[in-house]
Amino acid sequence: MTKKILITGGAGFIGSHVVRLFVNKYPSYQIHNLDKLTYAGNLKNITDIENAPNYHFHKVDLVDATALSNLFNTHQFDSVIHLAAESHVDRSITNPLEFVMTNVVGTVNLLNAAKECWKGNMEGKRFYHVSTDEVYGSLHDGGFFYEDTSYDPQSPYSASKASSDHFVRAYHNTYKIPVVISNCSNNYGPNQFPEKLIPLFINNIRNNKPLPVYGKGENVRDWLYVVDHARAIDDVFHKGKDGETYNIGGFNEWTNLDLIKVICKTADKKLGRPEGESEKLITYVTDRAGHDLRYAIDANKIMKELGWEPSLQFEEGIAKTIDWYLDNQQWMDEVTSGDYTKYYDTMYSERQAH
Ligand code: NAD
Ligand code: DAU
Repeated sequence: MTKKILITGGAGFIGSHVVRLFVNKYPSYQIHNLDKLTYAGNLKNITDIENAPNYHFHKVDLVDATALSNLFNTHQFDSVIHLAAESHVDRSITNPLEFVMTNVVGTVNLLNAAKECWKGNMEGKRFYHVSTDEVYGSLHDGGFFYEDTSYDPQSPYSASKASSDHFVRAYHNTYKIPVVISNCSNNYGPNQFPEKLIPLFINNIRNNKPLPVYGKGENVRDWLYVVDHARAIDDVFHKGKDGETYNIGGFNEWTNLDLIKVICKTADKKLGRPEGESEKLITYVTDRAGHDLRYAIDANKIMKELGWEPSLQFEEGIAKTIDWYLDNQQWMDEVTSGDYTKYYDTMYSERQAH
């Protein structure tokens, strides 16, 4: 079988792992990676596949509807796997409009381009929208997020992702675009931009810088290794039912503080430091505004219906992840040069230690 798939956001963290998996696993597919290359997009994440005969790159901004429509006219994609987004909650608090533009307007532009290209023949077409568990809000009294949990987004980021999910379902209902959606929990692993908790803390540990824990570090996240998310995306893309939603998660909940202690301990071993050394860097700082307390995904539907399950235990995954960041210092130095220092100062200088 041949397919011509447009993957958006393929230079980012999760997208780069999805592009690699599809390029290597499906040599008969043509994989087109669309990315604007924002601060979070980095072609160095995929140098291993950049010369593969079934891989193509397009530097395009999703907000540019004309460029999208031209790209669809030229290449006649039969499928889309849509990952491109502004993805960092803290940035959404400082600049919500950027999130509306990329996550909402950009998604609607992509839906329009697919609708125009596929009109009159939806056979064999698929628009796969990759979303987040944050659309369900924050859990306070136990329980899990299920596929039919009501949406209750709490941050500008999650509100923009919830809105994009609604548009995808609306296009399915109104224009009969064949869609599938997945909502995943927190990912960790190689190639994540160090604005997110795990790579930021590993980098600070290496540089002996304070580890800025928001609030009391009691918030809970459900962590999944990024390659397992990419495998789930492969399963949903190929086996998911039209119009359905699949929750993806690791059944792997950690409070931030417990997770940070594991990272410190593992990094101390790897760096040859005395046990307990890196924990001394923990600094409690002003909490994130509107900080969601707990996310927890019930992933039973994808496990039972599509046969997916996580391949890595957390201990193994986090050790691999720490090794990767410490072994790929050049990658880290490059992404933390330039604007990163400005970002870090803006984001953290106003957070009081307590
Ligand atoms: P990321 O920030 O690492 O990468 C986003 C990519 O999108 C970058 O390559 C960036 O250049 C590109 N991009 C941004 N704006 C664009 C635009 N206007 N036009 C074209 N490209 C643009 O994000 P990520 O963590 O890899 O997340 C990927 C997707 O998965 C997002 O949709 C996110 O909401 C979702 N998600 C992420 C997580 C997580 O833990 N990181 C969990 C669940 C779902
Ligand atoms: O749940 C899925 C979501 O997970 C994705 O949709 C988002 O794209 C992704 O960024 C992630 O959102 P979080 O806000 O959970 O991830 P982040 O790494 O920013 O923060 C994880 C937790 O750590 C959160 O409770 C805030 C806290 N934190 C974060 C940073 C950056 C700190 O305590 N200190 C920090 O410096």
